[in-house]
Order: sequence, then C-alpha cells, then structure tokens
Amino acid sequence: MSEKNSHAAFVSWFRHSSPYINAHRARTFVIAFGGEAVADAKFAHFIHDVALLNALGVRVVLVHGARPQIEARLRERGIKMRYAGGLRVTDAAALACVKEAAGSVRVEIEALLSMGLANSPMAGARIRVASGNFVTARPLGVRGSVDYEHTGEVRRVDIESIRQALDDGAVVLVSPVGYSPSGEVFNLSAEDVATAVAAELHADKLLHMVEGAGVLDANKHLVRQLRPNEAQKLLAAAHGRAIAKGSASVAGGSLLRVPAPATLGRPARHTKPGATAKGALAADTKRLLTGAVQACSKGVRRVHLISRHTDGALLLELFTRDGIGTLISADVYEDTRAAAIDDVGGILELISPLEDEGVLVRRSRERLETEIDHFTVMERDGAIIGCAALYPCPKEGCGELACLVVHPDYQDAGRGEALLEHMERRAKQQKVKQLFVLTTHAAHWFVERGFKAADIKVLPIARQQLYNYRRNSKVLVKKI
Ligand SMILES: CC(C)(COP(=O)(O)OP(=O)(O)OC[C@H]1O[C@@H](n2cnc3c(N)ncnc32)[C@H](O)[C@@H]1OP(=O)(O)O)[C@@H](O)C(=O)NCCC(=O)NCCS
Repeated sequence: MSEKNSHAAFVSWFRHSSPYINAHRARTFVIAFGGEAVADAKFAHFIHDVALLNALGVRVVLVHGARPQIEARLRERGIKMRYAGGLRVTDAAALACVKEAAGSVRVEIEALLSMGLANSPMAGARIRVASGNFVTARPLGVRGSVDYEHTGEVRRVDIESIRQALDDGAVVLVSPVGYSPSGEVFNLSAEDVATAVAAELHADKLLHMVEGAGVLDANKHLVRQLRPNEAQKLLAAAHGRAIAKGSASVAGGSLLRVPAPATLGRPARHTKPGATAKGALAADTKRLLTGAVQACSKGVRRVHLISRHTDGALLLELFTRDGIGTLISADVYEDTRAAAIDDVGGILELISPLEDEGVLVRRSRERLETEIDHFTVMERDGAIIGCAALYPCPKEGCGELACLVVHPDYQDAGRGEALLEHMERRAKQQKVKQLFVLTTHAAHWFVERGFKAADIKVLPIARQQLYNYRRNSKVLVKKI
C-alpha cells in the first residue's frame, strides 16, 4: 500500500471508530476470560486492549478463570480433581491449589496492567487495578448425598466497592474465589462470578472471551445476534436432543462443570435480525448461553460471546459495525429515534457516498447541524445505518420527506419501509396531511409504497422556488 493510501485508510478507520468511542465512554463492561487465555502467549495483547478501553473512559471489570492453572498444580501434586453430577468437588487439597492458582493468575494480570515501558502499547497508561474480597460465597453443600466441600456459589457481590473503584478510574479485577462470613474460601466458576457481577452492576455489556467463535448454526455459521427468548429456544431444543440421545441434559446453572471440548467455528456470514441457530450446541456454549439469558433477565443490556483466539477480538467486537461474535440482547437491537447533534458524523458518513453519486443533494456539516432536529436515525449497536428527514410546511399542511437512506449493507430487509412508516407517524404527529418527496433514483420504491407522481406545482411555493431543474427530480406525493 502506498503511503498516501495507508494514510487514507488510517483516517477512514479512525473516523469509523469515533461513534463507538462516544457510545462506549462511561459505560460499564464486565469482561470474563478463562485461565486458558491467561496462559496464551498473546495474553499481553488482550491486556493492552483492556488498557485502551480504560483510556477511552470505559469502566472495566475483569473476571478471570484459573482452571488450567489449578489443574497443573493438582497434577504436580498427584491429586485428581473429583467430579460429581458434572460439578467439581473441591476438597482441602484441591482448595490449596485453587488459592495458589487464583492468586498467581491475579498477580500476573496485575503485573501486565502495570506495564508502562516506552515503545510499548502500555506507555503512559498508568492503570490502577483494584482487586479484593468483592464476592461473598456460600458452599454448594451436599447434593445427591455428595458433599461438594469447598465448591461454592455466589451469595453477594460488594457492588458499592466495585463502583467506587470504577469511579476512581481503576480497572477492577475479580478472581473466581469467594469468601464467607465465617472466613472460609470457596472455589467458584468464573462464568458465574462474571454473570453475578454484571447483573448486580447492571453492566452495559458482559463480554465472554470464549474458545469458539460464538454460537454456531447447523451449518457451522456464526449466529450474529440472539434475543434471550431465541437463546432459550435453542437451549430447549438442545435439551430435547440430549434427552433423545440419552446424554446429559442442559442444566440451569453454570457451576464448575466438567471441562467441555471447544467449538472452533469461524464466522462466515451476516445473519439478519431474528435468525436462530438450529444446530447442536457445544457444552460450553450451552453453559454460556444459559448465563447470558440469566444476565439479560437481571438487567445486563448485552452479552457478547467472542473468540479469544482472534487477535484484537475485543476491539473488533466493540469498534466495528458488526463485531465478530454472537450478541445476546434483550434490547431492541436496532433503534429508530430522533437524531441528536452527536449523530451528525454518523449521518454524514452514511449519506456522503450518495451525495458523491448525485443520488442525494449535498448537505454541508453546518447545514446538517442546524437541521438535525428534522432527522430521524436508525441505529444498530451504536452505528447509524439509516436516516430520514422531515421538513413540515405547517401553512400548507404538508411536509417534505428527504434523505431517506439505508446503508447498503442493511438494505433489502424491510428497514427502508420501517423507516418510512416511522416518518409517516412522525409527520402525522406534526399535523402533516400530505407527504411529498423529490427523488432521482428511488421513484419506484416510493410508488410501491403509496406515493403518486405529481407536478411540481403541488409543492408549496417556497419549495417550488428551490426546485433544481438540473437535477430533474421526480415529485411524488402521498396522503397520510
Ligand atoms: C430506497 C432505500 C431507502 C430502500 O431501503 P431498503 O432498506 O432496501 O428498503 P426495503 O427493504 O424496505 O425495500 C426493499 C425493496 O425495494 C426495492 N428497491 C430498493 N431500491 C429501490 C429503488 N431505487 N427503486 C425501486 N425499488 C427499489 C428492492 O429491490 C426490494 O424489493 P423486493 O422486496 O421486491 O426485493 C435504499 O435503497 C436507499 O438508501 N437508497 C438510496 C437513497 C435514496 O435513493 N433515497 C431516496 C431519496 S430520499
């Protein structure tokens, strides 16, 4: 790539990231990752990305696992981890390994977050890390006559202390151990801890760094998004399949289970909203989906499953339009709302290519800023993917619909029509009885949606005077 092209690519990339930088600032993200990630040679890159999020004003809580580190210690001592009913039994010898492993992983992460070498991505970062006894736990107890001993479950999270540390600008680091009022230590599942912390914090996002690519459908294609009810249907279907096969069922909780083999699918396509996966689910995916549904029901807005094997996965998920993993969200995933001044950049990005092609009349940033109240935007995970403007002419009881655009990546899925319906409702609220539109390229689209060709004379006088005969736009009207 020439120097000029690489400059242009950099500028374009940076500009594309800016809406996300604004959207994520001051938001709370809980990021969970297993001990496998910590042991990975690329873990430092991941921590650099966490540092970048912190620098961009994201309130970050990290929840780490330590399974391979615990298992390595058990092996060294010739101790075998016992499982019962698919859950770990943590006896006194295993607990000693848990304490050591969790402690050493925590210190390792703290060390990486403390790096500040010149010439490294951490130069000048100066990150404070807050870790401590944030999680109160209780024993899992005796179930089916098995005493799970020091295997525990989350009882309470000290949200006040976590909030305070976040308010101070620290990255909060939570380990998969919990403490009881009687002074005991319990071995917890990092996933359960992350779900509990995210739910109690009402985090904006819970991000799980996973072994696979996310949720895969029957054709091994990545499912980009799921609503909690769709995730539940998948789990129910998987449960049915498991019973039919006579194998283990999908349990409701997600406590220290027998480690499952990883699914290493790769993203292959964009799925339209509402798509569901019908394939068999890997055990770890079931566990994470169950936790995701729980988290959503407890007020976490979005849960992301992202491959930890992709370098920069966190940044790709958070700062690109489609991300790279599976998003589970109860939110109206796409929101159509009145535009605000912060949307000007996103709207310009959407309409500029069409202005260059002559499809739309050119609008300067200044004009857009003064007219922003006329605009409605369609937003998808922080990015503007559609817009339209309404200019009412109260004296004549009519209004102009202009600048109706859907990003090319999202066309042909009914969004244009939904946006038109939204604008018609907005127009009615403003006592507009007749909508008119001037278009060079989309006349048929409007005609198919109830507009009729009309003469320029039907336009209000002021609008007739502004008519550009060189553009020769078609005039279409619709009574609403
Ligand atoms: C017009 C536009 C908003 C439609 O968005 P969309 O999200 O694809 O719309 P929908 O999904 O509701 O409709 C898709 C249907 O319209 C058809 N369509 C799309 N653009 C069309 C056009 N210019 N003329 C006629 N039909 C068109 C598609 O073929 C599709 O038809 P199908 O359902 O039979 O397959 C979009 O194409 C766009 O942004 N165009 C550029 C901007 C523009 O010209 N705006 C109008 C001037 S204000």
